[in-house]
Amino acid sequence: MAYEKTYVMLKPGVLQRRLTGVILQRLEQKGLTLAALKTMIIPREVAEEHYAEHSQRPFFQDLVNYTISGPVVAMVVCGEDAIARARALAGPTRIEEAPPGTIRGDFAAVTRKNVIHTSDCPESARREIALFFSPGEILEYEDPNADWIC
Ligand code: CMP
Repeated sequence: MAYEKTYVMLKPGVLQRRLTGVILQRLEQKGLTLAALKTMIIPREVAEEHYAEHSQRPFFQDLVNYTISGPVVAMVVCGEDAIARARALAGPTRIEEAPPGTIRGDFAAVTRKNVIHTSDCPESARREIALFFSPGEILEYEDPNADWIC
């Protein structure tokens, strides 16, 4: 296991549907730790940079338009194997493949509005965290309960 930080984003609609609390609860219940959290409306150019790897896909403009269509909850989440753990909790990107019990499987109906984004590898996590947070916004703190979780 490796201690990691990952970028997690609750997409537009989550705040309006009052789902933030139940989704954060799933991350925390699995032992992940919140190191930074903020609401924001993402500027278009930042959304385009965030999803740059999809820029040649037919759904790119729709994806960017949706991403900037309302406030998101952006966060840095950390812990042992945080990247894989957050992705397992989120479930598969394609909604038809997301089983009940995963965040997408329980709260999303279409792939484009699949409720949550999580970084897919350490390099993406570093890039995405740096895109949305300055170092001073990310808090590292002692957790006396950590031994009960990891
Ligand atoms: P996310 O994990 O944020 O990373 C890329 C996003 O592109 C993905 O979640 C989906 O929201 C979106 N996406 C992937 N495939 C499609 C698709 N076929 N049609 C529309 N949106 C898609």
